Amino acid sequence: MKYDRLVEIAIEAREFAYAPYSKFKVGAAVLMEDDSIYSGCNIENASFGATNCAERTAIFKALSEGHKEIKAIAVIGDPNTHTYPCGICRQVMTEFAESADIPVILIKNKEDYIIKTLDEILPGSFTKKDLEK
Ligand code: THU
Repeated sequence: MKYDRLVEIAIEAREFAYAPYSKFKVGAAVLMEDDSIYSGCNIENASFGATNCAERTAIFKALSEGHKEIKAIAVIGDPNTHTYPCGICRQVMTEFAESADIPVILIKNKEDYIIKTLDEILPGSFTKKDLEK
């Protein structure tokens, strides 16, 4: 299906997770405006607050190479369930999403993933438009 490649890349990225404290490995892959794909994993730190989530790792890699807009994002955490992105990652997705209804793909495994829209998982979001009022 349409997002199979994105899903595979997110699953692969999870292998690189650095999660010695939580032992909770996460992988992500983001599809950008030109159909390029960037992967990411969570990267923890002995100073816990310095941890970066997989989704933000992927998004920041893409942005720091000149990409501007997210078309879709896939994430895998616990392979026994569909892990949802944390609140901070949902907010970061909102800042750079092409639209409020981009797909957020929640992966259990290659054959089992569900698709939500960003607006569904972060309704009533605070955006740059709110600052213009
Ligand atoms: N984590 C992510 O990478 N993405 C999320 O959306 C949820 C949480 C990571 C952060 C930390 O390394 C571990 O999962 C446990 O919170």
